[in-house]
Formats: sequence, C-alpha cells, structure tokens
Amino acid sequence: MKKIQFFDTTLRDGEQTPGVNFNTQEKIQVAKQLEKWGVDVIEAGFPIASQGDFEAVQGIARVLTKTAVTGLARCQKKDIDRAYEALKEAVHPQLHVFLATSPIHMEYKLKMTEAQVLTAIHEHVSYARQKFTTVQFSPEDATRTEKNFLVKAVQTAIDAGATIINIPDTVGYTNPTEYGKLFQYLKQEIPLFDTVTFSSHCHDDLGMATANALAAIENGATRVEGTINGIGERAGNTALEEVALALYIRKHFYQCATQIDLGQTKKTSEFVSRLSGMNVPRNKAIVGSNAYAHESGIHQDGVLKNPDTYEIITPSLVGVETNSLPLGKLSGRHAFVSKIEKMGYHLTEEEQNKAFRKFKELADKKKQITEQDLHALIVGEVSEANEPYHLEQLQLQYASGQRQGAIVSIENSKGENQTDSAVGQGSIQAIYNTIDRIMKHEVCLIYYQIQSITAGEDAQAEVHVTIEDVKTKKQFNGIGIDFDVLQASAKAYIQASGFAKQKEIIRTAGGTL
Ligand code: KIV
Ligand code: ZN
Repeated sequence: MKKIQFFDTTLRDGEQTPGVNFNTQEKIQVAKQLEKWGVDVIEAGFPIASQGDFEAVQGIARVLTKTAVTGLARCQKKDIDRAYEALKEAVHPQLHVFLATSPIHMEYKLKMTEAQVLTAIHEHVSYARQKFTTVQFSPEDATRTEKNFLVKAVQTAIDAGATIINIPDTVGYTNPTEYGKLFQYLKQEIPLFDTVTFSSHCHDDLGMATANALAAIENGATRVEGTINGIGERAGNTALEEVALALYIRKHFYQCATQIDLGQTKKTSEFVSRLSGMNVPRNKAIVGSNAYAHESGIHQDGVLKNPDTYEIITPSLVGVETNSLPLGKLSGRHAFVSKIEKMGYHLTEEEQNKAFRKFKELADKKKQITEQDLHALIVGEVSEANEPYHLEQLQLQYASGQRQGAIVSIENSKGENQTDSAVGQGSIQAIYNTIDRIMKHEVCLIYYQIQSITAGEDAQAEVHVTIEDVKTKKQFNGIGIDFDVLQASAKAYIQASGFAKQKEIIRTAGGTL
C-alpha cells in the first residue's frame, strides 16, 4: 500500500474563511486535536502576516511532538526568516514557500516575467534550504499555468533543493480527469518525480475538491492538503475527512494507507466547527448530523435486517456513537470523567472540576445529557475561556405588537461590567441594538441561524451569527449555546462582537491570500 501523508491547513487556508478568526489558544487546541487525529503535517499559519499568526505558529511548534509543523512564506527572504523564527523550536519543522506561475497572476498580480519568476523560485528555495531540511514549493494557480512553464518552475524548485512539490488548484478550476493527467504529465517530464513528494491542494469552487485530490493520489501524489469540514476561502478546500474515509472505505481500489485515527474524526470536526463558528451542514459527507440517518421506510427496514444494505460507513468508525448511554442528573464524577475520556478528552484535574460543575448545572435542566451535549459543553469551555466579553445578564420587556426592549450587562476579561438598554422591532433586534451600544461599534448582522443541539423539548439551542464591520467589511463569527434561545442569541452576538473589537487582521500585500 502506498502511504499518503495528510497535510492539514485548517489553521492557515481554513482561517481565510470570511468570519473565521481563531485566537492563539484555540489554534493550539485545534493543532493538538489534529495531532491526535493523526495528520502528518500542520500548516499552522503565515508567520509574517501578523504578530498573532507568528505567536500561534510558535506556540504550535512548541507543543506538537509527533506531527510536523509548517508555516507559509512568499518568495521573500523576510518571510522565510520570520517563519524560521516561529518554527525553530518545532520537533519536525518544515517550510512552505509559494509563488504564482499562471500568466494572469504573473502579469497582473506579480508584474513579473517568466524569467524573473524562475530566478525568484531558485533564489528563495535555496535560501529556505539553508534553514530547513524539508521545504515545500507551491507554484500558485498551477492548474491555470502553461504546462511547459509549470515543468520549468517545478524543476527549478527541485534543483534549488525543494523536497516537496505542491500543485495548487488555487481557484478550484480543474476537474478530476484533467488534474490526474497533470500529475501524469509531471511524472513524465520531471526525472526526479519519484524522489520528491508530490502534493495536491484543491479548492471547491466547482464542488470537485475531494474528487480532484483523489485523482491526484491515483496519479502519483503522495501528500494531500486540505482542511477539516472543508472550510476555507470562497467555497473552501478539500475536506480531509472525506479523503481519509474514501481511502479507507475504498482501500481495495486506491491501495493507499494513512496514519489517520478514524475514530477521532467526528470529534475533530466538532472541534473545528465550534471554534471556527462554521456550522457543519446536516447532509455533509462523513461528519454531517444526517450522514448516518435513514429516513425512508425501505432503507430503515434494510438497515435493521443488515446495516450493509444502505450503510457503507459504520458510524462508530468515525467516532459517532449512535446508541451510547446518556448521562443524567444522578451520574457521578467518575461516570462523567470516564465518559469524556472515552470521547477523547483528557482534561487536567482543574478542568475536570470546572466541566463537572457545568455538567451538573446542565443536568438540572435536562433529563438526559448526550454526547452532543458533552461535546458542546467541553469545546464551549475552551472557547469561552478565551473570549474577551461575556454575557452577565439579560432582561427583556415584551409586549405583542409593539417595539420590544432589552437591558444587557456585559463583562469584559478584566471583570468590568457595562449595562445598557435599547429597543427593537423584535426581541433579538432589541438585544443586538443594546450590545452594539455597549460595544460602540457599527456592525451589521449578515447571518443568523438557530438549531437545537439534540432532539427533545429540553434540548439546548445553538445560535450561529456572522457580523460584518461596516467600515472594514471584515466578518466575524460567533456561537452561543443555551436553553433559552434569546440568551443563546445574545451570547453568539457578544462573541462575534468581541472578536470584531479585538482581532487585528493583517492582510498580505495585494490581498492575495
Ligand atoms: O490555494 C493556494 O494556491 C494556496 C497556496 C498558498 C498553496 O493556498
Ligand atoms: Zn489554498
């Protein structure tokens, strides 16, 4: 079996999703979970982009022991130096250097000739090799690059010492037949193809990112890049969980092995969804909540007689427990801890105490606490601990057919409290107008979604919001979970508003990334 390396870029390309802003602590949590899931390499960020990115890459480099950590750099010495500083303490450091090679990017964005591009690749890959043993080069927009020139760019990078060549479908333009043939072509034209690792990196603009990645693997790629839940700029990236399952379920066809621990898949997806504020669509392959639900009578009948009739993936394979024993009000600390450990959470004594207290509060309000509730509780703890603002109190005045009023108190991380009030056409508008007054910012709500975490009348509500800063046009996501939908709505909006206030976003020159 051919070994396929998994390269996760949730924290770099995934963070380029509008509204997604992980803070350093959240990035470290995601990276640790990705290491448990078994990825070979984590692209932790773009160290030159901002101080925050630098610190996150450095923090991740310090804590991972098995997984290699890489950072992105343009073909500029200052980028490579900054990445080196961020990555130098990693047990397995790597560097990812890129430069666009398509005619449109060279002419309009870079304003460079082909000869200048080749010189820049040679100069910067050689420079990177003086600092890193493993250097990946990406000819950005490779799938729209003229083929002869792509070969020249790739050959130049290999001659300069690149050990990995990534072929990005930057704009999600290619299709499986064409992308597979591109790898065949490179195999034929590059004499050292088999001594270098070739990697695929696809975007999902035409909905073919996973199919394209698999076509690359069939045609010589031994590394696949992507993100958890397929998050990323525009339509997103290849969803790595889809590739992992496709390679496993269809192993006789692909003849490939990975080191992914499939049982950690659902949990990894939940983690990324909650910390990114990006909802996983119910019908999403592998990790969507409907992925293992059988609705039609004929299907249900078949599954009861033999699950293989309609189920190609056993839910427990990816860590979805369909009939696990729920906990309740009378469950003790021991049962709680052993349950969350079975779910893959290893908390410190102090974290366990805090989580158990929250569990008890929850159990007072809800008869049965399911795994979904526990995931929400524990991951919620992680993000809450890093949030700059918290909802302290919410009061509403409701009269049907009239404008509604809200009084909101918010506490910041220094423990300072601010209270204000406002009215709105409905209760949510009144709450959000009040929060805007407290935050003193001008934002508009561009996305609001409410769903229940589990079935049942006592289910908790989960609200997702995205707001946009009116001046900068930057977007920020927030999630709120509570038994009360208005309280959950307030929490989600406060979280997004907190990010909007705090997060410093530095875009790279020309806004190309
Ligand atoms: O999509 C892309 O081209 C990228 C590169 C930086 C590899 O993300
Ligand atoms: Zn990309």
